[in-house]
Amino acid sequence: MPSSLIAGNWKMFKTASEARLFIQDFLKIYTPTDSVEVLIAPPFTALQAVHDALGSTTIALAAQNVCGEKEGAFTGEISPLMLKDLGCKYVIVGHSERRQHYGETNSLINQKIHSVLAHDLLPILCVGESLEERQAGHTPRVIEKQIQEGLHNIAADQVRQLTIAYEPVWAIGTGLAATVEQATEVHIQIGQVIEEKWKIDRQDIRILYGGSVNAENATSLFQSSAINGALVGKACLNPDTFAKIIFSAKKT
Ligand code: PGA
Repeated sequence: MPSSLIAGNWKMFKTASEARLFIQDFLKIYTPTDSVEVLIAPPFTALQAVHDALGSTTIALAAQNVCGEKEGAFTGEISPLMLKDLGCKYVIVGHSERRQHYGETNSLINQKIHSVLAHDLLPILCVGESLEERQAGHTPRVIEKQIQEGLHNIAADQVRQLTIAYEPVWAIGTGLAATVEQATEVHIQIGQVIEEKWKIDRQDIRILYGGSVNAENATSLFQSSAINGALVGKACLNPDTFAKIIFSAKKT
């Protein structure tokens, strides 16, 4: 089983100068260890600043999005080649805010996953149901479709390199995290879909929980053996809170 992963998704917050200051403050209170892997996903414009400020620490750099093409006439897009060159290790793909606000479909997400893997970057595929879908009892069906279509034609050895983040849409940015039971149930289902389709051991891949993770609820979430870390939004914007969440993962 890979180590736990705590991922900080800054979304559209922090300029490059603010990013530099954040990393300086964060490294005063957090010393990376092997037991938990940590990554930071700043906006594109702060990737270089975060990369430089992280220096030789083991904290990984991630992008929040990517274009599915390597290069070409795609105004405003950023390719995996460019991210790799900047020192990124991970790329978040299919975040629900991309699906909701920018119309990203499972098929586009699939194209991006192929492209990310082809450039030796590690994708973090986000899946999750809306409140209406949960209330209608459609969560398992929605999650399975997002995985099957998002990972269409991805071979088992590539799926092993993947991280999946279960992020219920109703829990993102609302302060209303899923309960440990709700998250565990879906994580187990995700594991089953992966095992059935790709015949690989669920223990080989990490499944993170995301959606209103904070310093208070992190410990109980990480007590579930089905939850292998977190994708943190709001609570990662403060160095103290982010460090507390990482410590909770270390303890459990
Ligand atoms: P949140 O965001 O922690 O602010 O709910 C999580 C995410 O969108 O990845």
